[in-house]
Amino acid sequence: MTRPLVWITGASSGIGFALAEEFSRQGWRVAASARGAGGLGQLPADTILVPLDVTDEALVANAVASIEAAHGPIDLAILNAGTHRPTPVVDFRPADFRELFTVNVFGTVNGLAALLPLMRARGRGRIAVVASVAGYSGLPGASAYGATKAALINMTEALRVELAGSGVDIRLVCPGFVRTPLTDRNDFPMPFRIEADEAARRMFRALTKGKGFETHFPRRFTFMLKLLRLLPYRLYFPLVRLITGQGR
Ligand SMILES: NC(=O)c1ccc[n+]([C@@H]2O[C@H](COP(=O)([O-])OP(=O)(O)OC[C@H]3O[C@@H](n4cnc5c(N)ncnc54)[C@H](OP(=O)(O)O)[C@@H]3O)[C@@H](O)[C@H]2O)c1
Repeated sequence: MTRPLVWITGASSGIGFALAEEFSRQGWRVAASARGAGGLGQLPADTILVPLDVTDEALVANAVASIEAAHGPIDLAILNAGTHRPTPVVDFRPADFRELFTVNVFGTVNGLAALLPLMRARGRGRIAVVASVAGYSGLPGASAYGATKAALINMTEALRVELAGSGVDIRLVCPGFVRTPLTDRNDFPMPFRIEADEAARRMFRALTKGKGFETHFPRRFTFMLKLLRLLPYRLYFPLVRLITGQGR
């Protein structure tokens, strides 16, 4: 039997790199994308390397077509490429928002645009969109990053409803803090931070064995944030100020 094929974007470091290793260890064929050939080159030798910039719509479409032409249908795509930079109110710049939306939202949209027609035509396939708990509700310093992740959550929910019965299974992944080069940029304490290989193991299990729409972890942190977003604003804002030590 042919081994299943996963395509992972943002696989040159952090969560994506750990995912590529985990899927490979579990016997999957892995196609891995990112811009940085250096990071991709550290992946297991039989990894199918597809360097690209997710913000280039035509490149992404060509990459998906060439993976499928050479290796057959993609069974699972994990649209994980993303970036982060703090956007404090004292340094509020449209360029930061443009960059984060271009990579996090449009990079993911480019992947979806390439995959959806193919998967819908064959009535089969799974796509995981990697958002973040930062998209659940507004958090200080993350007005741009959080907004990109909120957009991804909303978009994936909408697509989930539209794709029901099509054979295409779209999933949402909302990690809490994971130790990667991305979170190494943060200068605040990151509660319940886990290692990238643990995140990858959880995602592998959820995306290959679980059936739920959303995968979120670590749960003691994500449930807290889910509760927080249910609060009325008159409680939400003082609590967030208290927890983060930001604002008056
Ligand atoms: N770490 C966390 O705590 C955390 C929590 C929640 C959600 N997430 C999400 O998880 C995903 C992975 O993050 P990470 O923490 O593993 O960060 P990371 O180590 O910085 O990895 C980001 C990956 O995305 C790739 N990438 C960035 N821009 C790209 C572009 N234009 N085209 C193609 N690839 C691009 C990077 O590769 P190149 O630079 O080589 O292109 C890299 O492989 C992101 O979507 C992030 O928002 C992370």
